[in-house]
Amino acid sequence: MHSTVFIAGWLLGLASLAAAFVSPDSTGRLPAMGWNSWNEYECNINEDVFITVARQLVALGLKDLGYQYVNIDDCWSDKKQRRNTSTNKLIPDAQKFPRGIIHTAELVHSMGLKLGIYSDAGTDTCGGYAGSLGYEEVDAATFSKWGIDYLKYDNCNVPSEWADEYEYTPEGPGSNAPTGYDWGTSNTAKRYRAMGDALQRQNRTIQYSLCAWGHAHVEQWGNTTGHSWRMWGDIMPAWKGKEKWSWGLMPIVNQASLFWESTDFGGHNDWDMLEVGNGDLTLEENRSHFALWCAFKSPLIIGTPLDTMRESILVILSNRELIDFNQDPVYGASAMPYKWGNERPAGTSDMEHPAAFWVGTSIKGIHIFLLNTQDTSVQMRAVFAEIPPLQAAANDEYLVHDMWTGKDLGTFKEYFELEVKTHDTAALRITMVDGKHPNVSWSPK
Ligand SMILES: *[C@@H]1O[C@H](CO)[C@@H](O)[C@H](O)[C@H]1NC(C)=O
Ligand SMILES: *[C@@H]1O[C@H](CO)[C@@H](O)[C@H](O)[C@H]1NC(C)=O
Ligand SMILES: *[C@@H]1O[C@H](CO)[C@@H](O)[C@H](O)[C@H]1NC(C)=O
Ligand SMILES: *[C@@H]1O[C@H](CO)[C@@H](O)[C@H](O)[C@H]1NC(C)=O
Ligand SMILES: *[C@@H]1O[C@H](CO)[C@@H](O)[C@H](O)[C@H]1NC(C)=O
Repeated sequence: MHSTVFIAGWLLGLASLAAAFVSPDSTGRLPAMGWNSWNEYECNINEDVFITVARQLVALGLKDLGYQYVNIDDCWSDKKQRRNTSTNKLIPDAQKFPRGIIHTAELVHSMGLKLGIYSDAGTDTCGGYAGSLGYEEVDAATFSKWGIDYLKYDNCNVPSEWADEYEYTPEGPGSNAPTGYDWGTSNTAKRYRAMGDALQRQNRTIQYSLCAWGHAHVEQWGNTTGHSWRMWGDIMPAWKGKEKWSWGLMPIVNQASLFWESTDFGGHNDWDMLEVGNGDLTLEENRSHFALWCAFKSPLIIGTPLDTMRESILVILSNRELIDFNQDPVYGASAMPYKWGNERPAGTSDMEHPAAFWVGTSIKGIHIFLLNTQDTSVQMRAVFAEIPPLQAAANDEYLVHDMWTGKDLGTFKEYFELEVKTHDTAALRITMVDGKHPNVSWSPK
């Protein structure tokens, strides 16, 4: 009898140990910050690109702000030879990385930064290079030996025997899975778990970024499998709309309005890499993109070249108050929409006008983010009685602080109102008049 109880307790212990993908050194507890080559360079990469970026991260002060991962995306391996025929190890492209990935890792590490790499949970990467499906163990060991610190694991070229029994894609029409179906048992989850398990068997902490595009409800099993998970198709540097498999900012913000709850310490919805500085976003759109990705606690992975970056872009990416919100050590949840705006009920899905009024919390106070999705400037009003953490004391006087400028805007009763330019996002911190936190016990979830 005693031993049965003991065994049951032991099994339970094992189950809870297996529950979350936790790195002992707390890697992945907070959203990752760094840089990735894809948005700007696609396949035109080589060692110089990454060394230059590493130097710039240091020189521009971005490393000191927390941007530490230098991430190699697709197209780094030898497209023809693929793997060593006797060891099965991936072979780096000798033109692009003449001294091997190991040498790039050494250089990046010597600057106090970390190196990320890319692979795919299929036979081939999206660019047609060797994928890791069936080679998880050897690839995880190779990455570990090279000194890799971060793996972005993509979802292209899945062979038919690995197709999911039930399909779910976030942009699609829903799924035919029975109610209560455990998406953690899907083949997609199994493909991602195989690599996660292999990574955890290595003698090295490798941050694991699941690039699963929201498929098979990755937000339901991502936290047991990796540190972050992509929630939607690829981002593109446009305000709204879609081109092939890439989407503008507003459809992604819409999905974040509906799925903000699946983020917390150690496990983050990834709303994709930053397009700040790319394409033809306006200044206000660049600002909204950064402020919202900080508010959502998404990984902050810069996707623009750093050596030619304009000062106005550096100013956005360097906003310490927004970064501090994203990296808060005490409150792990994403900001939540507290009002949709435009007279729409909570939960309305709208790819052009997603939720506009957001609230989150940090050690410094309550933060609100007011997004203007309209094509003209509008007055936006934060009514204290509508903001959940302030509701019970809505008649108090509050100090409102502008996170963009770092300046206090004054003290206000009942509401605060300001003009928000078209497609801009106001980022405000609210405290008591003496600067104290208005509600330390509140969190969005
Ligand atoms: C394959 O690996 C073996 C054993 O490490 C090595 O001797 C050989 O040179 C490698 N071949 C290629 C093409 O890299
Ligand atoms: C694991 O890594 C540590 C630190 O880098 C090293 O000292 C140790 O020898 C490694 N162990 C194995 C089995 O590779
Ligand atoms: C992920 O797991 C960690 C560790 O168990 C837990 O603290 C955190 O709240 C989880 N995150 C989510 C989003 O469920
Ligand atoms: C915002 O970024 C875009 C690239 O997306 C750039 O063309 C634009 O000039 C930026 N705005 C400012 C003011 O720097
Ligand atoms: C602070 O938040 C808690 C928990 O959500 C809530 O019960 C309480 O009423 C809030 N206090 C104020 C002053 O709004």
